[in-house]
Amino acid sequence: MRPNPDWLVDEPYEDVDLGVLKSGKEAQIDLIERHGHDGTRCLVARKRYLPREVKEKGVLEAMGVQQASTFRHDVEYREGRQFRKSRDRRAVARMSTYGKRLLQDRWTDHEHAVMTRLWRAGLSVPYPLSYHDDAFDMEYVGDRTRAAPQLCAARLERDQLADAFEQLLDGLRLLVAEGMAHGDLSAYNLLWWQDRLWFIDFPQAVDIAANPQGLGFLHGDVVNVCRWFARHGVVVDPEALFAELLALL
Ligand SMILES: Nc1ncnc2c1ncn2[C@@H]1O[C@H](COP(=O)(O)OP(=O)(O)OP(=O)(O)O)[C@@H](O)[C@H]1O
Ligand SMILES: [Mg+2]
Repeated sequence: MRPNPDWLVDEPYEDVDLGVLKSGKEAQIDLIERHGHDGTRCLVARKRYLPREVKEKGVLEAMGVQQASTFRHDVEYREGRQFRKSRDRRAVARMSTYGKRLLQDRWTDHEHAVMTRLWRAGLSVPYPLSYHDDAFDMEYVGDRTRAAPQLCAARLERDQLADAFEQLLDGLRLLVAEGMAHGDLSAYNLLWWQDRLWFIDFPQAVDIAANPQGLGFLHGDVVNVCRWFARHGVVVDPEALFAELLALL
């Protein structure tokens, strides 16, 4: 486990909103500068999950976000996650208004919990700081001049691509050894910063053993990233890699 970085986790501190970093399909990322009272500062990425099915622009603006998101295979992804009450499980399966609210509430909590577990296991993920209400605060990857680019936009040289692929393999092995599949792994959900590959965007991550579709998600992840690397000249056999990963379960 890496040492706990020197984050300003404990109050008192003040957060200064430096503006929107990215507005994605599912969430908006704001850049926050956190000022400790002893003069220390750090940059924080605050992920705010977009309210689902809120169409009116005025409502979104009032909530401080720019666009609404849609549900993304929620039931499939969450099948293995236990809602204790059968009433809740039925509501989620039917995707009733109540069921959707249940899922929304779990979203932030789940991503924070998954990233905490994976960070502890040594995966290269931003350090998860905290979550509250609809916001998840984590380590910001980048510097004051620019955020870490997504892998697909990072314009890597040939040897950097080979290095990134090795880091991807290490990360996948670690994820699978933890029994998890990312569920939406792609060159958009990998960041590249100072020769290091970072895994991000885990709200749909699943426990492979508990989720009936878990292996399918892992297979999808492997095929997806291998295809991207193959297009960029790193020759890989996704099925061989998938088989190798299965042996780790
Ligand atoms: N910790 C971070 N540090 C720097 N940039 C980040 C961080 N987290 C997210 N980003 C940027 O914000 C983008 C959106 O974040 P993320 O992928 O978590 O949310 P999303 O809304 O689910 O995205 P998508 O559009 O892929 O559905 C990322 O692709 C990345 O460019
Ligand atoms: Mg993403």
